[in-house]
Amino acid sequence: MSTLEHNNKTAPESLSFRHLLSAEDISREDLEMILDRAAQYHIDAKNGAPVGQTCAGRILATLFFEASTRTRFSFESAMLRLGGQVISLEQGLSSSVKKGESLADTGRIVSAYADLIAMRHPEAGSVAELAMNARIPVINAGDGINEHPTQALADLYTIRHDKGRLNALTVGIAGDLKYGRTVRSLVRLLSLYPDIRFVFISHPSLRMDAPPADAMITDNIADVIGDLDVLYVTRVQKERFADAAEYETVKNAFTLTPESLARTKKDMILMHPLPRVNEIDPAVDALPQARYFEQAARAVFVRMALLALMQAPAPVTD
Ligand code: NCD
Repeated sequence: MSTLEHNNKTAPESLSFRHLLSAEDISREDLEMILDRAAQYHIDAKNGAPVGQTCAGRILATLFFEASTRTRFSFESAMLRLGGQVISLEQGLSSSVKKGESLADTGRIVSAYADLIAMRHPEAGSVAELAMNARIPVINAGDGINEHPTQALADLYTIRHDKGRLNALTVGIAGDLKYGRTVRSLVRLLSLYPDIRFVFISHPSLRMDAPPADAMITDNIADVIGDLDVLYVTRVQKERFADAAEYETVKNAFTLTPESLARTKKDMILMHPLPRVNEIDPAVDALPQARYFEQAARAVFVRMALLALMQAPAPVTD
């Protein structure tokens, strides 16, 4: 029996939210409960301990109206590892939404076929719209340029794992801060902790709309790279640009190479939600700072924790 199964018998835990639509739904207590549970799954996996069938008999519906590799697969893998099952709309437009069905109606309908929904959609606010009539918990797996709270949970897991803390950090966030939804969720979650100094690094036209008041803002990564404990790099979100020419002018703001990383603090960690395009040269992958592949791999433990903790009683159907 894993430690986790044992602990579960004595310590019932519950999250403060029903749907996870925004990082703002997550309290610090929720966050620590999720990260602690994820850490236990991670340790159990390293030790080859059995996972337990926490989600046996439960069905996760993944409704993806937008491209995904890591998010959908790690959600589905997490559910299967916990003994649950998955039904999936890989390309959401093959659903009745294409015939004009509203997201609110889709939420009501899918509630009869599954116990949890994870959804991605190109429009900001779309997941909340579906959740309005859903009778089962709904997780935002990315809604347009708005938010991607489960990516932020995975990001904080790697920061805590590798730095040993979530407070007192100088965190550089570089790339597309205007359209990047992972950035918005990450800043919200990290802001739950004291003494976080944000350094936002981007082309002037890709700055964040409402950055925290005390954040430092620059367009020159070389000026600040030596001060950072964490450098979180993002892809310029090509699909969000109305004007292709504008994307062309900002797409190659920087490419990190082993040379550009030579001046970082020795224990700085380099993260990226992936996919990367030009931001990080593959020659960087072998450096000790590079943590993005671990970050992606560990996300499955975080999503397992979330699915296990978000399980609601099975819905009753008339
Ligand atoms: C991100 C996303 O979809 O927002 N990817 C992810 O989920 N790991 C980042 C991106 O697409 O650039």
